[in-house]
Amino acid sequence: MTRDTESPSAVTGETQAGGTERSAVPTPERWIAIRRHLHRYPELSGEEYGTTAYLREQLEAIGVRIVDYGLKTGLIAEIGSGEGPIAALRADIDALPIQEETGLPYASVHDGRMHACGHDFHAAALIGAAQTLKLRESGLPGTVRLLFQPAEERAKGAKQLIEAGALKGVGAIIGQHNKPDLPVGTIGISAGPIMAASDGFTVTVKGAAAHAAVPEAGIDPIVTASHIVTALQTIAGRSIGAHERAVVSVTQIHAGNTWNVIPDTAVLHGTIRSFDEDVRRVVKKRFAEIAGGVAAAFGAEASVRWSGGPPPVVNDAELARLAEASAESLGLKAAAGITSPASEDFSFYQREVPGLFLFVGTSGSREWHHPAFELDEAALPDAAALLADAAVRALEHLGRKAD
Ligand code: NI
Repeated sequence: MTRDTESPSAVTGETQAGGTERSAVPTPERWIAIRRHLHRYPELSGEEYGTTAYLREQLEAIGVRIVDYGLKTGLIAEIGSGEGPIAALRADIDALPIQEETGLPYASVHDGRMHACGHDFHAAALIGAAQTLKLRESGLPGTVRLLFQPAEERAKGAKQLIEAGALKGVGAIIGQHNKPDLPVGTIGISAGPIMAASDGFTVTVKGAAAHAAVPEAGIDPIVTASHIVTALQTIAGRSIGAHERAVVSVTQIHAGNTWNVIPDTAVLHGTIRSFDEDVRRVVKKRFAEIAGGVAAAFGAEASVRWSGGPPPVVNDAELARLAEASAESLGLKAAAGITSPASEDFSFYQREVPGLFLFVGTSGSREWHHPAFELDEAALPDAAALLADAAVRALEHLGRKAD
């Protein structure tokens, strides 16, 4: 569904109330131009210097105050008096090491770098929300803190912002991600778990080297590792109940360097995805038991090293209800039960404060991280309006709780 651009005015009907000359009318065309600029100049996680400078310019142009948190990249700004409850809105801003193949007129000019996850869209939508909120700043029932977060793709940025104090005083946080498989005009809004926890693993299987013709003289780590790979597949099917979900994927096997020698070591890499902390614990426990037990059965040893990723994204039920009301007021369709097995470092914020992560339908033909990833910019005004409206409702909610 292609929507026109009337939704932002729905949330900013009172453009005269707190508006300044510079930001008298929210302009979706401007937000689209911002998105295209960001798309043209993508920067990788932790290197978002140009992006940060550009976003700063855009915020200053609409009179939004920047707050210094000593960040290397990324940016934090605030709208409101600084009094009352604080609700945070978060957008990620980093791109991926992918060679763009969209052929768009505003395609990446940086070789091997691309906004293939739509974080350009998220940042532009947050600028749109900022402009929308700025117009009603004097009437805001609290303060909205805008987090333009770096390094989401490497699951580092949220932690950096939390460490810098970005959540200080924050009572609720709302973020969003574009969703290519949802049509424009539909918003995925769900309570509970919606995105997976991600855990990386490295299993080192230690055997004993031997001549390939005399395997009985050694302990074959390749045969052992193969049995481990197969046995690991039983975790999702046998240790996790039918109503729960987990994925165990071995994505690399490394062993040996010639054809007639059994090596002494094999190494497996891969990832586990789960939607619940209890399930996550069970999967990791069974994983270690299976790797160790199977290795022992073959006379080998297996050690498991984890590289912990983000926890699952688990949405606050009250905030989900508020966002449903926002969507309805903006003429958008709220869809429940939309989930993704991908992970998101937004979950780190949710461990600190109640949070809501929304999926904005963008009618794309390719999934995230594809070199031809595209989205329908018609969704941008909706995304901006929804963030702004949900933030106001969250402030009102926090105010009621405090009374
Ligand atoms: Ni993303």
